[in-house]
Amino acid sequence: MSYSLRCKLWSRRSRDLITCCWRRYSMVQGSTDAATSFPLCGSELDYTLQSCKNNLARNTELYKKHDEMLSSMPLASTRKGVLSVPDRIAALKDKDAYFLQLSEFAGMKMPYDKVPHANTLNVITKISGHPCFIIASNGSFKGGTIYPITVKKSLRSHEIAQRNRIPCVHLVDSGGAYLPLQAEIFADSNMGGRGFRNQAVMSSMGIPQVTLVCGPCTAGGAYVPTMSDEAGMVHQLGTIYLAGPPLVKAATGETVSQEELGGAHVHCSISGCTDHFAGTELEGLEITRRVMATLNIKKNSVQPPVPSQAPRLPHSVEEFAALIPHDELEQLPVMEIIARIFDGSEFQSFKGCYGNRLVTGFARLQGHTVGVLANNRLLGVEESLKGTHFVRMCSVREIPLVFLQNTPPDNEFLSSHGNDGLTVKARAQMMAAVACSKVPKLTVILGGSYGPSSYAMCGPALQPNFIFSWPHARVAINTPRNVTTAMSQQTEVYQCDNMEHITERLQLEEEAYNTSQYCYDDGVILPHNTREILSFCLEVCLTYPNDNTTQFGVTRM
Ligand code: COA
Repeated sequence: MSYSLRCKLWSRRSRDLITCCWRRYSMVQGSTDAATSFPLCGSELDYTLQSCKNNLARNTELYKKHDEMLSSMPLASTRKGVLSVPDRIAALKDKDAYFLQLSEFAGMKMPYDKVPHANTLNVITKISGHPCFIIASNGSFKGGTIYPITVKKSLRSHEIAQRNRIPCVHLVDSGGAYLPLQAEIFADSNMGGRGFRNQAVMSSMGIPQVTLVCGPCTAGGAYVPTMSDEAGMVHQLGTIYLAGPPLVKAATGETVSQEELGGAHVHCSISGCTDHFAGTELEGLEITRRVMATLNIKKNSVQPPVPSQAPRLPHSVEEFAALIPHDELEQLPVMEIIARIFDGSEFQSFKGCYGNRLVTGFARLQGHTVGVLANNRLLGVEESLKGTHFVRMCSVREIPLVFLQNTPPDNEFLSSHGNDGLTVKARAQMMAAVACSKVPKLTVILGGSYGPSSYAMCGPALQPNFIFSWPHARVAINTPRNVTTAMSQQTEVYQCDNMEHITERLQLEEEAYNTSQYCYDDGVILPHNTREILSFCLEVCLTYPNDNTTQFGVTRM
């Protein structure tokens, strides 16, 4: 059975389990009136409409392409007797626990190589009852080496772990830096060494760091277990050394075996680099589960204030496929989308008659109140002020925020509005509110993510706890057509044949799968999985005690 199919089956089986999990892990949320429901929103789709039929045909094709791309990135073990990374994760996680793989498309088509999953599977799941990160290098591809995109993906995972205080389990099976690209991996502040610094800082914050060495840990890789709180090592598979036998031979003339140089016996009984000796991989994974059981980590345990209920409107693959417009720049029906993501298709609107390019209001996700911000279109002055008010209000109430981004490019807006200064000032206020707010922030890029409005809607630079894109998403400063038009007006250099080439490149660059492969987000997700994924992420954000007290800075009025 393929890995992606297994993911789907797990995902289906665990959908109901999430609801149970909510009863165990829940947010520290005040006493909302449990009996009060919010008004219903959304309406039933008319599948006989031609627009629905067009959407369905086009989106079905798009979602099929999504699955094909995933299955084109092999994860099987190429080494006899060695577990594949998915099998390691399956043995390590709690049986039937939901798991979310982040940045699945990372490294898919890099300028230097195709690096499936950026050569590291970074997954959030549960081990011994604790939500935690598993960061597992894929030793079956190029010796599990670390590419520049591997570093980027790992650092983003550390950022998520730190922000949400999630314990990290590292499964190391790596030949260290991919040497032909060493200049892009070594030396700068956000390159290789940053990971070691992060491990130390997270440990100092009480975020446990646990490692199992189940393959080579060469050169830089040697520091992952040694920077960990606790580490295990698998006999005859795991090795830790600064340089392997060939290099030792070249440097000193000495012939030494891998095991003698840095095997599990050496490091568990002589050097002390690792703490637990495992005879086999499965034993090592079981030891790691037991280590996780000793964390004695504090978790929030307040019940969700209201029981969870599924959206009343259908939220199947077909429903979303028929709903999302055929043309990317067409306005998305955000209220219909909200009605298919949140509990009971209920929505308590805030400032519904003001600044209507931005929808703001309260909904519930698995029984937890969340503040929702969804753009209908661009953020003007009213929308930005409304957004600022809403974000600050939710922050004071410690209510998590969900941003549903659909921002078209600025041009259209500028042509019909004169007062740029007021818009800039108002958007700056919203950006400041979003940047400073300490409540959990989850972003989904539904359609356009163009220009500065996308920052205020908690784009990647504003550091949301989690950010995902739909396959329909387009991320850029402006559309390829607008960019090339502007360029050709500015300089003669661009009024030449290569304009077509530039347009093609820009079109490719703004696609969701392209931006996701560079880890600008945490993955491209299919619309019908959005509720499930947001629910899981919210659970993760709320599990470990965190300081959500927000302090806002000076606001330019
Ligand atoms: N940089 C670039 N490529 C590397 C690499 C590295 N650090 N380490 C391994 N590879 C590549 C190999 O060239 C090979 O590529 P190929 O599939 O195109 O032939 C592939 O990874 C597998 O390596 P191989 O040596 O055949 O596999 P192995 O299982 O016998 O050994 C290692 C794996 C990692 C133990 C071994 O390759 C090794 O010691 N590599 C050098 C590690 C090193 O010196 N790292 C320093 C980093 S700072």
